[in-house]
Amino acid sequence: MSATIISGAKIARTIREELHGQVAELTAGGLVPGLATILVGDSPASQLYVGMKNRAAAEAGLHSRQSTLPEDTSEAGLLDLIATLNADPEVHGILVQLPLPKQIDEAKVLLAVDPAKDVDGFHPMNVGRLATGDPAVLAPCTPRGIVEMLMRSGHDPAGKHVVVVGRSNIVGKPMAFLLLRQAPGGNATVSVAHSRTADLGALTRTADILVVAVGRPGTVTADMVKPGAVVIDVGTNRVVDLDVDRGYRVVGDVDFDGVQEVAGAITPVPGGVGPMTIAMLLANTVEAAVRLRGGGA
Ligand code: GUN
Repeated sequence: MSATIISGAKIARTIREELHGQVAELTAGGLVPGLATILVGDSPASQLYVGMKNRAAAEAGLHSRQSTLPEDTSEAGLLDLIATLNADPEVHGILVQLPLPKQIDEAKVLLAVDPAKDVDGFHPMNVGRLATGDPAVLAPCTPRGIVEMLMRSGHDPAGKHVVVVGRSNIVGKPMAFLLLRQAPGGNATVSVAHSRTADLGALTRTADILVVAVGRPGTVTADMVKPGAVVIDVGTNRVVDLDVDRGYRVVGDVDFDGVQEVAGAITPVPGGVGPMTIAMLLANTVEAAVRLRGGGA
């Protein structure tokens, strides 16, 4: 058997076209949704991600601006910038790219973002609202993108056993909360596995839908997947490959070649979850703008 490929790139393109239309209507009515991104330091990966987010925002017709701060920025300096953006009526969404340099307390920074502008869904108030099943919360972009991708490819998680591998605050935990909600895209039975799970393969083999988000290539191999399961690969890992000009390849956490022989459907890396994350950032920014104006979702 060879799995169907779920193209996040294609689904994300459709969503971005839908958003482009919605943004044009809002703009005609005098509301230009605005996204402010903050990049601290010079990590090439973070630079690339933030650049992609701003480009996508501009393409969708959003007002977008990036603040780039040096690696030695103080915590107070970053908090000042966030306060300024919180008060700026042209800014409806604020994204602080993670990770932050070690002199800055990440928890303090996430708490400083106005929850109404928290398009990453990382503020503790939004985390709590997600955990309690609030259907109107701004949910973290990667798990929200995965739910959207499952629904649009005909794999409604309702009643299915979803195994999430990874317990990060950015993906694993919010993924579990979204899948548990009594709402479209939710109503799944969810297990969360992590580095201390005793027999990972025994658990993953019971998954109808398997979401893998640990940041380690080869975490899931063909023998760990139930025949016909849907496999969502969140990993973005660089592995050395001297056969290509740039010297590396980007691979996920799943052994794609082996697993696609067993799975019913699978996301590729690149071109799977990544583009969905960006599309959901735009969707969250548009939603935040509409709510801040007071027009409902
Ligand atoms: N770093 C890795 N993923 C993310 C994300 O979704 N949002 C932010 N702000 N930083 C990240």
